[in-house]
Amino acid sequence: MLRIAVLVSGGGTNLQAIIDAKATGRIENGALALVVASRPGIFALERAKKADIPTAVVRRKDFADQDAFDQALLGLLADYQIDLVVLAGYLTILSPTVIRAYPRRILNIHPSLIPSFCGEGFYGLKVHQAALEKGVKVTGATVHFVNEIPDGGEILLQKAVEVQADDTPETLQRRVMEQAEWQLLPLAIEMCCDGLA
Ligand code: GRF
Repeated sequence: MLRIAVLVSGGGTNLQAIIDAKATGRIENGALALVVASRPGIFALERAKKADIPTAVVRRKDFADQDAFDQALLGLLADYQIDLVVLAGYLTILSPTVIRAYPRRILNIHPSLIPSFCGEGFYGLKVHQAALEKGVKVTGATVHFVNEIPDGGEILLQKAVEVQADDTPETLQRRVMEQAEWQLLPLAIEMCCDGLA
């Protein structure tokens, strides 16, 4: 049974998809052991508490420097004996120190078909804004392993989503979440837990 930590920064709809997948038996060989928020007061923490998952807040600005933050995060993950780290709407960039501690065991969900609309500064609504500005007819979501290049790690799963003529960044984000993100992330976790990735 892999012990999973989910790292969050916002509303936690991807976390909720993981919680629901666990509850419906789609993630059999993984245990949701910890939710770590990058700041307090986010709704993702409410979702974790409702699902009786232990929570913690590790906020970068509470630490004197990057190394202190890294040690606090790595210490917490070790305390909970975490095997798999899942970035679900997590906005803090992880340092090489943290990434190297979990080789091919950190997953990230990005709301585009990488290599489009990814890398530095592409997160949240900005991704969908860029897709609409470019006029792409298809976008989607990608689950990839995290390495030291932002959104540059090995791709595990992708799913395409149609762009509609009257889309706004908000309506497109919602469709990408519903039709791609919330399906791909639980599936990717299940693959890792079943030793298939
Ligand atoms: C959304 O922009 C989503 O596309 C991306 O992270 C953001 C928040 O997701 N993956 P969540 O609702 O906090 O899971």
